[in-house]
Amino acid sequence: MAVYQVITTPDQVLRVKAKAVGKINDGVFRVLDNMKDTLYAENGVGLAAPQIGISKRLVVIDTGDNYMELINPEIIEAQGEQVGNEGCLSVPGTVGLVKRADKVTVRALNRLGEEQILEGSGLLARAFQHEIDHLDGILFIDKAIETHHEPI
Ligand code: CO
Repeated sequence: MAVYQVITTPDQVLRVKAKAVGKINDGVFRVLDNMKDTLYAENGVGLAAPQIGISKRLVVIDTGDNYMELINPEIIEAQGEQVGNEGCLSVPGTVGLVKRADKVTVRALNRLGEEQILEGSGLLARAFQHEIDHLDGILFIDKAIETHHEPI
């Protein structure tokens, strides 16, 4: 078990477009394992590898009922609209209202290198979009309609 230190703004690693994962090897497994430990240690809903200083296209998500790992995720379909509050472990103490698609379909690889198609609506759709944005160097504060500070 290893918990990473979560990197916060304005660290530039959060602003770089992350590189696709090539070979899914032990190094990738180790990063995913440690991202999972970090997600739960920080009580997060999702975590993207740039947030722990690794500029690779890896995401872990758990909205409360299902843990998932996404390698090279891509949104292939988006529908509807939802507006709701978001926060981010990399932007501590800030909450913002963000407009997102209400339902998305994501294509990603699993640990075996198999393609998986995942669908999410509501909070899960929001998490998919927020985390995949991280892989492109985008933070929720870039998209927020308004933000406010919340005591930690
Ligand atoms: Co975030």
